[in-house]
Amino acid sequence: MAHKVLNRRTELILVFDSKNAISRQFEKANFERGTLDDLWQIKRGKKIADNHSAVFPEELVSTIIRNFSNENDIVYDPFMGTGTTAVVAKKLNRHFLGSELNKKYFEVIKHRLLELESQLF
Ligand SMILES: C[S@@+](CC[C@H](N)C(=O)[O-])C[C@H]1O[C@@H](n2cnc3c(N)ncnc32)[C@H](O)[C@@H]1O
Repeated sequence: MAHKVLNRRTELILVFDSKNAISRQFEKANFERGTLDDLWQIKRGKKIADNHSAVFPEELVSTIIRNFSNENDIVYDPFMGTGTTAVVAKKLNRHFLGSELNKKYFEVIKHRLLELESQLF
């Protein structure tokens, strides 16, 4: 963390629904009325790799995936970083696709997925 930088305590998540663009009601959501707030308090993610300071907590990703997709859906993460979305998607029986600019994270993602596989089987 650089000096004199404010800690970021929030992450903005945008959820789009092609059928109902200006409401907070989502055609494909899985939660019951009144059970999901628009503000979630989730602890920071654990450190996965050196030099990646923005690893998402699994709880954040799983809250999104569980509530806004179904089993066997494809979840796409255009900014994979260390691959938290891929790991959580697999845990929740979703497929995943992703892209990541920085080549060095590819090995990290591969390692996390292999580790998960060894836990599952
Ligand atoms: C906030 S991090 C994602 C962290 C990830 N959710 C995790 O849990 O590890 C954003 C990532 O996007 C990558 N990135 C930035 N611009 C990109 C681009 N144009 N295409 C693909 N990846 C990009 C960065 O290298 C960085 O690893």
